[in-house]
Amino acid sequence: MAEPSSSEPRENRSTTPISEAFRGFIQTGWSAPDSPTPHPLEHAPRVAQRREKLSAEFPGVTLIIPAGSTRVRSNDTDYPYRPHTAFAYLTGWGSGTTPGSIVLGTPHGDAHQWQLFVLPPAPRTSDEFYANPALGEFWTGRRPGLQDVGIWLGLDTRDLADWSLTDLDLESSAIIADASERLTRELRDRRGTEDSSADDRLAEVISEMRLVKDDYEIAELQEAVAGTHRGFQDIIDALPTAIGHPRGERIVEGAFHARARLEGNDVGYGTIAASGSHACILHWVTNDGPVSPGDLLLVDAGVERDSLYTADITRTLPVSGTFTQTQRLVYDAVVEAADAAFQIVKPGAIFREIHQAAMAVIAAKVSAWGFLPVSLDEALAPEGQHHRRYMIHGTSHHLGLDVHDCAQARREMYLEGVLEPGMVFTIEPGLYFQPDDESVPPEWRGIGVRLEDNILVTETGALNLSAAIPRTASEIEAWLRA
Ligand code: GLY
Ligand code: MN
Ligand code: MN
Repeated sequence: MAEPSSSEPRENRSTTPISEAFRGFIQTGWSAPDSPTPHPLEHAPRVAQRREKLSAEFPGVTLIIPAGSTRVRSNDTDYPYRPHTAFAYLTGWGSGTTPGSIVLGTPHGDAHQWQLFVLPPAPRTSDEFYANPALGEFWTGRRPGLQDVGIWLGLDTRDLADWSLTDLDLESSAIIADASERLTRELRDRRGTEDSSADDRLAEVISEMRLVKDDYEIAELQEAVAGTHRGFQDIIDALPTAIGHPRGERIVEGAFHARARLEGNDVGYGTIAASGSHACILHWVTNDGPVSPGDLLLVDAGVERDSLYTADITRTLPVSGTFTQTQRLVYDAVVEAADAAFQIVKPGAIFREIHQAAMAVIAAKVSAWGFLPVSLDEALAPEGQHHRRYMIHGTSHHLGLDVHDCAQARREMYLEGVLEPGMVFTIEPGLYFQPDDESVPPEWRGIGVRLEDNILVTETGALNLSAAIPRTASEIEAWLRA
């Protein structure tokens, strides 16, 4: 059965005519829909390899990967739909995914038979197309046909009406649990146990498979970064409007959002547009403050492509066009930390070492500036870490379909993991002197700087995918002048 839509039509304000005469009229007289010849997606063969790899990890296990349904925002209004990342990864279907679709892997010898269950378009002989605001073609647009989806994705595609757990071997089964609470509940009830270990393992394996990107994924990430670069340019173009407006940060956010919607599906996460001391609030997404001359404006933003791959870039811009002496000292320190981290990226290095390299610079700087109550060595020791007062977040996270990608990967594969060609992650050190921080001189208070680049591990070292976006203080000032 179809995953019920979150937004059911509301009886109390429906004005849809119910007369048989109306139904008879609206259900007839339509020409056959245009059906352009569908073509297989270029990356479909690579996606099929992912399913094969997953198969090999779960011999004999029934695998269920739901796309998830729409989520209610309020009453009959939904949040924008985004399929679950595991579903997108295993189908290659992105922003156009029909909500409620489900991938099923049924054990077959050493491998699996894969099927995709999708809600087909409703025929014009139904009531749905005109009377269902949540799903109807006249309300939300036409869904793709099963045959088209099957050809695009190279998957055996079935009608969601034929979906049932009844005939499946569920004793040995696993589901991506956070993709569908309803299906997970039903599956666990049928399995007769609340034990989630098989489900957790499925999420873990898919997360770990995603740690190394293929050429298609890298190309998508490069495009996401290029779109984000254009979005930052739009922000700079909008700065004169933002300055002096009581909600200048919203103008910055809006400029980037327009670019993300124009070029891609959406922003990959809530844009952080943080001017002045808001830059010291790591996930400042309220963005309702002014952008004032003399401020640093920290923007952390990423375009998410229709494939759902996202960039994650931060640049910190002096609103007046030039950094003050103190702002520049801080900025240069952050660049030095980022460069030190970048230096150690190559196959064979350990992920955690990237953070350590950045932290060594951050610690040395705040120590040299006289902010630490202990020696540099004492601060760097695990039992010290005083310098973390000024940079409490990590330096790097994997990047891909999710901004914080591969989040279910085990520690030994992630933080303690060995870098391999094809991995993509951020390097994003920062320094944040809170406006009420008495450990630093008054003129340092309220300064927040972060520099975030997106890095690809290559066969021999690393490539900064966002190197084309001005990043040093002088480059930034020249960019603002231009
Ligand atoms: N934009 C969130 C982060 O940088 O991790
Ligand atoms: Mn990040
Ligand atoms: Mn970021």
